[in-house]
Amino acid sequence: MIWTRFEAMGVLALPLGFMLALTDVPLTLAAQDELQFSLIAADVSFSEDVTPILEAKCVICHGGADENGAITKEMQLDLTSYDALMIGSEYGPIVEPGNVEDSVLWMMIEVGDMPQEGDPLTAEELEVIQAWIAEGAQNN
Ligand code: HEC
Repeated sequence: MIWTRFEAMGVLALPLGFMLALTDVPLTLAAQDELQFSLIAADVSFSEDVTPILEAKCVICHGGADENGAITKEMQLDLTSYDALMIGSEYGPIVEPGNVEDSVLWMMIEVGDMPQEGDPLTAEELEVIQAWIAEGAQNN
């Protein structure tokens, strides 16, 4: 049987989507797998989905200004733009496009080390960042 490239991608994307949806998410969320699947299957947008999370929970310590205009950049990590994020910290890149488990960014948020202060990421926010890295960490 000869598959077009498109068909082959669809067949491969389906199990991958479910694997991602079922890995590392609390059971309560895995139970809503229809919702999970639609989120994973749809392209996650950096500007629309990832940026609001970083702005709400990360930039206060990574590139953003406080009320006096002073900028904090812990570990030289600036999360205020795509380009700065992709440069990474003083140790180098924090995202390996397409490779969630090897991305320092993911390791830090998955175990709850980041944000260092403030509300931890919700399960849905974790899903968004996981999907964004898995989809190649695009500037979209
Ligand atoms: C209250 C301040 C604060 C907040 C908020 C914060 N960070 Fe951090 N971050 C730090 C400090 C301090 C370090 C360095 C010490 C450490 O690794 O614990 C760090 C280190 C990191 C590193 C490690 C870089 C490397 O190369 O090892 C990553 C990745 C990171 N932060 C991502 C995030 C993300 C993503 C968020 C938001 C979800 C966030 N941080 C929120 C203070 C903060």
